[in-house]
Amino acid sequence: AKYTWVDQETCIACGACGETAPDIFDYDEEGISYVILDNNSGECQVPEEFEDDLEDAHDGCPTSSIKVSEEPFGKAEKAS
Ligand code: F3S
Repeated sequence: AKYTWVDQETCIACGACGETAPDIFDYDEEGISYVILDNNSGECQVPEEFEDDLEDAHDGCPTSSIKVSEEPFGKAEKAS
């Protein structure tokens, strides 16, 4: 299983992730990315059919803002 969230502090709104994985990522009014599935909480499992897209988006983000884990992200992890 895969979980993901976007570090909005480092996202530069480049727009690559929504292009690569439109079922997972969308942008706020400033173009900063977030995960549609769980409102960027990192707690909702990415559906298996989108895992390849997620991997591509993860590899393609120029600022490494897309965090991916096999475990759900907790609030403590996100803060660190
Ligand atoms: Fe931001 Fe990276 Fe997507 S910079 S818009 S999270 S590809």
